Amino acid sequence: MQLLKDKIAIVTGGSSGIGEAAAKLYVQEGACVVVADIAVEKGEAVVHEIINNGGEAIFVKTDVSKAEEIERLVKETIKKYGKLDVAFNNAGMASKTIPIVEYPIEAWEKCVRINLFSIFYCAHYQIPEMLKNGGGAIVNTASMMARIAAFGNSPYVAAKHGIAGFTKSIAVEYGKQGIRANAIAPGVIAPPNAL
Ligand SMILES: NC(=O)c1ccc[n+]([C@@H]2O[C@H](COP(=O)([O-])OP(=O)(O)OC[C@H]3O[C@@H](n4cnc5c(N)ncnc54)[C@H](O)[C@@H]3O)[C@@H](O)[C@H]2O)c1
Repeated sequence: MQLLKDKIAIVTGGSSGIGEAAAKLYVQEGACVVVADIAVEKGEAVVHEIINNGGEAIFVKTDVSKAEEIERLVKETIKKYGKLDVAFNNAGMASKTIPIVEYPIEAWEKCVRINLFSIFYCAHYQIPEMLKNGGGAIVNTASMMARIAAFGNSPYVAAKHGIAGFTKSIAVEYGKQGIRANAIAPGVIAPPNAL
């Protein structure tokens, strides 16, 4: 049985790593996938591979740190497929290892914007579309750094802790209306070229 038959899914950070693997698995399970990423060539390659294997997917270039680009991503999804059932909000970046006092303000803010603000932008624009269909499933990628801290990684730690809390907020505010919200907290996952 296919778990996601006829479901429409957005996967952010779908050009690489965990997102790429998830996008391909979603398609295997019957979903149509919208791959969203800033990495255009890699994202288009993922989509070509999916289509060549008989699946259905599109690529939408998206910088998740910009609210207006998430709004456009959701609009493009609805324009192409007419609904949104699943969102894997997974795009993120690691932080440079710098102690708090020395952390450049701009770099700290950038890391939090990409890892955490993006999760709010996604929920903000995805939930209304999911509600039109009676609900949906949101999975946000946190990290084991949502539970612990690592020296010099304060923006990443703060952002990932924030994702854990924000995901609970989604559940509290929209769970009764059929939105299932979960965060995942991976440990160290080797990138594909390290395997
Ligand atoms: N790899 C690990 O060990 C690990 C551990 C815990 C959590 N995570 C989290 O898993 C998620 C995926 O990471 P990964 O390991 O697959 O890394 P990855 O680098 O392979 O994938 C991240 C993807 O996000 C995209 N991305 C980065 N900034 C973006 C932006 N502003 N807008 C749109 N896309 C953007 C990248 O282009 C890339 O395709 C991240 O949120 C990361 O923090 C990874």
